[in-house]
Amino acid sequence: MSCCGQKCSSNSNEYETVRQIQIDVKEYYKNIAKGDKPPFAGDCNLPIDQYTATSLECPLKAPFPEYILEILKEIHPDVLASFYGCGLPIPEALNGCKVLDLGSGAGRDCYILSKLVGKNGHHEKAKQYLDYHADKFGYKNVDFHLGQIEKMDEKFSPNTFDVIVSNCVICLTNDKPKVFEKVYELLKPGGEMYFSDGYAMKPVPESFRNWDLAYNECFGGALVWDDFVQICRKIGFLGPFIVQSYPYRSTIPELIEATKDLDFVARTVRLFKPDGTKSLLKPQIAYTGGILGSEEELMFDLEHRFKIKQSVGVSSDVANAITSSRYAQYFDA
Ligand SMILES: C[S@@+](CC[C@H](N)C(=O)[O-])C[C@H]1O[C@@H](n2cnc3c(N)ncnc32)[C@H](O)[C@@H]1O
Repeated sequence: MSCCGQKCSSNSNEYETVRQIQIDVKEYYKNIAKGDKPPFAGDCNLPIDQYTATSLECPLKAPFPEYILEILKEIHPDVLASFYGCGLPIPEALNGCKVLDLGSGAGRDCYILSKLVGKNGHHEKAKQYLDYHADKFGYKNVDFHLGQIEKMDEKFSPNTFDVIVSNCVICLTNDKPKVFEKVYELLKPGGEMYFSDGYAMKPVPESFRNWDLAYNECFGGALVWDDFVQICRKIGFLGPFIVQSYPYRSTIPELIEATKDLDFVARTVRLFKPDGTKSLLKPQIAYTGGILGSEEELMFDLEHRFKIKQSVGVSSDVANAITSSRYAQYFDA
């Protein structure tokens, strides 16, 4: 078997399909970046005043924490208008962290993260508004690197990042297990992957998967949730811990029709690279406070809301995730 550039495959048809998908996705998002949005996808780009709206139907209209709403006011309107994600992959406790954003697009999340990691943090990844945001924040800590996620290890060394985020991108990549393996490699021990993406809750017909509009709009390539869980476990991640989960629907009429009997969700999840710490079977932990936006309560995932100074029993996976990561300093264990 020979290795053929972007994806190794013994099957040349498969390689051609992968290559074509990559070209189509790149073109699709290049046009979106130029302002050629698909006709009915404008719902994804909320004006600033709509960021507070609440809806169970759309992850983009979920309530944003107050401190993020404040940062959004400092972000350039062109950047906000070109947002094309499916959630808010901004975890807590970022001060001083080194963060990588995979598939940053116009950079909304990058600039939110840039503000949150602070002067001594670092954020790698979109370019035109670098100086605008450096002026607003009073420091410059963002780099943008053009390249394919599948090859991120060619740009960065193992054990480099505290946090890796991504917003509606991994569903567009052609070799998802490889992407997660590389994320694992680039995270420091105790590092967190915190990302939003689309998932199919039940298998999807092959004809739908191969339809280019469905693929480019983040439905066709979405992992089946159970497959995603298996991939994470096989690699060795702790998690996935689900932070948000919403029905994932298109605003494009053909896609609304084609997905009406399918079951897609948009989820924001946490994954942790363990650092070797092993907790007891039923450990007790207590949140001691101190995290911006989580002063009284830390919402770790849909099952765990840690109220300040309340000791609770958790699974060893949850305890290991917390005690091996940057969250350890905010907990008594
Ligand atoms: C749905 S958009 C999301 C953009 C951005 N994260 C946001 O929230 O606005 C998907 C982005 O991923 C990029 N992308 C897709 N596949 C990629 C790959 N294999 N490597 C790098 N970027 C990729 C696209 O070019 C596009 O910018």
